[in-house]
Amino acid sequence: MAKDAAPQTVAPASASASAATSEAGAAPRKLFIKTYGCQMNVYDSERMAEALGGQGYEQTDTPDDADMILLNTCHIREKAAEKVYSELGRFKQLKADKPDLRIGVAGCVAQAEGAEIMRRQPMVDLVVGPQTYHRLPDLMAQVDAGRKALDTDFPEEDKFEHLPKRPLPKRQPTAFLTVQEGCDKFCAFCVVPYTRGAEVSRPVDRILREAEDLVARGVREITLLGQNVNAYHGAAEGGDWGLARLIRRLAEIEGLERIRFTTSHPNDMEDDLIAAHGDCDKLMPYLHLPVQSGSDAILKRMNRKHTAAQYIALIDRIRAARPDLLLSGDFIVGFPGETEEDFQATLDLVRRVNYGQAYSFKYSARPGTPAAEREPVPAEVADDRLQRLQALLGEQQRAAQEGMVGREVKVLLEKPGRLPGQMVGKSDYLHAVHVETDLPVGSLVTVRITASGPNSLKGEMRPAQ
Ligand code: 5AD
Ligand code: SF4
Repeated sequence: MAKDAAPQTVAPASASASAATSEAGAAPRKLFIKTYGCQMNVYDSERMAEALGGQGYEQTDTPDDADMILLNTCHIREKAAEKVYSELGRFKQLKADKPDLRIGVAGCVAQAEGAEIMRRQPMVDLVVGPQTYHRLPDLMAQVDAGRKALDTDFPEEDKFEHLPKRPLPKRQPTAFLTVQEGCDKFCAFCVVPYTRGAEVSRPVDRILREAEDLVARGVREITLLGQNVNAYHGAAEGGDWGLARLIRRLAEIEGLERIRFTTSHPNDMEDDLIAAHGDCDKLMPYLHLPVQSGSDAILKRMNRKHTAAQYIALIDRIRAARPDLLLSGDFIVGFPGETEEDFQATLDLVRRVNYGQAYSFKYSARPGTPAAEREPVPAEVADDRLQRLQALLGEQQRAAQEGMVGREVKVLLEKPGRLPGQMVGKSDYLHAVHVETDLPVGSLVTVRITASGPNSLKGEMRPAQ
């Protein structure tokens, strides 16, 4: 599963819609998209903006002047799902002031709740699931004709083939590229297999085409996305390719400097993918590999199909291939039946593995998942465990960041910093780094790290770059 990101709007500059006018040549209509949840939603929002660009929609970064508001939602935890309804509540007045305002709900809440959303919030005009947003133009036509539109199918056709070609002449230096969707793992707590459907991999040639196109538009780093990205098995001439082979082929694209992938399941870390971490220079030394718990009893009840010892042995193998790998993980505390001893096993695993980055959550019962039937751990117990786990993970994260001080790292400059003459970029290990330079966005520079702050590093350019 992809990690959660803070709610965000898709930057208007990243979508084709920015240059669009309606077919009749009238003033463009304004589209506001708010994205919740994982990076896959960030990618989907970009593609939805591109699809609506052809309908004359141009993006805006505020709902106040929008003609269409689209919430791209996340269903992973109860809080994320409920946020959608409170956000919709906030748009009530806007809709009252501007009856032509279109309001749409996309993403995993749309998939899970469908028509229920329109029942709870009748002002919603359109509900579209993650597998059918290529049909947005038709759905919008229905709405323009005065009807409500709902589409939460799992269609036969490949939505990516029906979406407009990615259009912007120039892009940011980093981009997401979805290569795989859905999940067949059925962890007992997780809604993803229900909201995103079965595992599907995009064919190799289409991914290569999209990657080459992104690179031609200025992208230097691509993060391959999938709910279970290392289960990738895409059709290619001569048979399916796994993720490692795809990465090695992408690494041949001139101008593409960095490749990352997220998010992975331990049971799909095959030998060639581990080897790629050691011998593919463009594959970055950062791996998000969730374990969720360190207790074998809980892992079994979670239906994770691996033990703590198997996970640790796997980490040792990956680190043998790439000793400087920075490891990231996801954890759930307070899963039904979790005892203090189970929780201690999670802390032990964290101490043994040593994470440079981590995301930890209190278990949230999700309707329709097997774990939701079980007796929950009292909320205050789960709260207390989350605090203790986060304290330990926070220490490890800080130590990993401070350990960078004095080292030389490569940084891809992504945007100007807050101070004049300063740029911000990411290191190979995904740390944010501030550096004084007049080089432009998209430069890949070597930097000596001089200091570690609360959320980022500071570095000095190596002379003569
Ligand atoms: N409750 C809490 N956390 C969850 N996650 C997935 N489902 C739930 C749930 N029901 C977490 C897992 C996953 C991450 C994206 O979200 O840790 O890896
Ligand atoms: Fe959810 Fe488990 Fe699939 Fe990840 S592997 S998406 S946690 S079911």
